[in-house]
Amino acid sequence: MILDFLFGWLSTDMAIDLGTANTLVYVKGQGIVLREPSVVAVKRNANVQKVLAVGKEAKMMLGKTPGNIVAIRPMKDGVIADFEVTEAMLRYFIRRVHKRRALVRPRIIVSVPSGITQVEKRAVRESAESAGAREVYLIEEPMAAAIGAGLPITEPTANMIVDIGGGTTEVAVISLAGIVYSKSVRVAGDKMDEAIAQYIKKKHNLLIGEHSAEKIKIEVGNVVPEPPYEEIEIKGRDLVTGVPKTVVINASEIREAINEQVETIVEAVKSALERTPPELSADIVDKGIVLTGGGALLKNLDKRLRDDIDLPIIIADDPLSSVVIGSGKALDNLSILKEVMIS
Ligand SMILES: Nc1ncnc2c1ncn2[C@@H]1O[C@H](COP(=O)(O)OP(=O)(O)OP(=O)(O)O)[C@@H](O)[C@H]1O
Ligand SMILES: [Mg+2]
Repeated sequence: MILDFLFGWLSTDMAIDLGTANTLVYVKGQGIVLREPSVVAVKRNANVQKVLAVGKEAKMMLGKTPGNIVAIRPMKDGVIADFEVTEAMLRYFIRRVHKRRALVRPRIIVSVPSGITQVEKRAVRESAESAGAREVYLIEEPMAAAIGAGLPITEPTANMIVDIGGGTTEVAVISLAGIVYSKSVRVAGDKMDEAIAQYIKKKHNLLIGEHSAEKIKIEVGNVVPEPPYEEIEIKGRDLVTGVPKTVVINASEIREAINEQVETIVEAVKSALERTPPELSADIVDKGIVLTGGGALLKNLDKRLRDDIDLPIIIADDPLSSVVIGSGKALDNLSILKEVMIS
């Protein structure tokens, strides 16, 4: 009886990966139940704000809204940029997961970038609380990513993880359930998209939106010059004539456009290696480095890292889900949760 009761409320517990690009929700005992872009479309009339759409539907509106509607990405560089909208988004997702059983107040574990400030942590905690959480736990993203990728984080051995998301790249070395070294740089997928839009503006006099830039990156982005040299047709607005036009862009142009961001990520990995204690470095030589996050899917990024640092580089299975799976596993296993959550 008491067990039933306990199980009943425990099972509403959830893990949320509140990402700059995507938000994922994992429910205890069910796995991943929601995966949506972190975008909210809001209609503004006088002083009233009304949420029109959240997730995929809102993402389709990015850059296409009339004056009184804005499509907002409330997370920027891995942290909350717009508190109110983040809270509205979280509330919407939590309700959807609970099928509008409004009385349910779950315990929620939220992943945050390593090294975020106290103020930024409080913002996450408060927005989850006002969105309906009864209790909020925080877990560092690289720790969650390592658990999600199935690394033996509690053993006395080095687990090196590189999580490349939309807003941040997190590099960490984990041993005995603790972070030995971590570094978070605010360069990841979004900065690549911006760089692509800039490049196309400069070189082809063509204005494109962030959505198109991301599509180009995903379709023809390739970090290593390697045939086939894929091409893509892009439509945008001509900067000179103001009229819509189409240009053809090839993979090597995109490689050039995002080179600086890729370089920053490679440097972050190198500097982590330089700061890792020698015994742990020896483990990394054997076990290599695991890549997670959507950025791990950028074509040949793994090859580029392998060529540069000469270590085994492994892309996690389903890198877009590693963080939420890891947070979810921590939720399923309270002894892990106790060891890895941050206060
Ligand atoms: N196949 C692909 N090739 C290149 N980039 C990709 C691919 N698929 C997704 N991405 C990029 O991955 C990023 C999203 O990854 P992810 O969902 O891990 O980020 P996030 O967790 O929301 O962000 P953060 O962890 O920084 O807060 C986006 O920039 C997206 O463009
Ligand atoms: Mg992430």
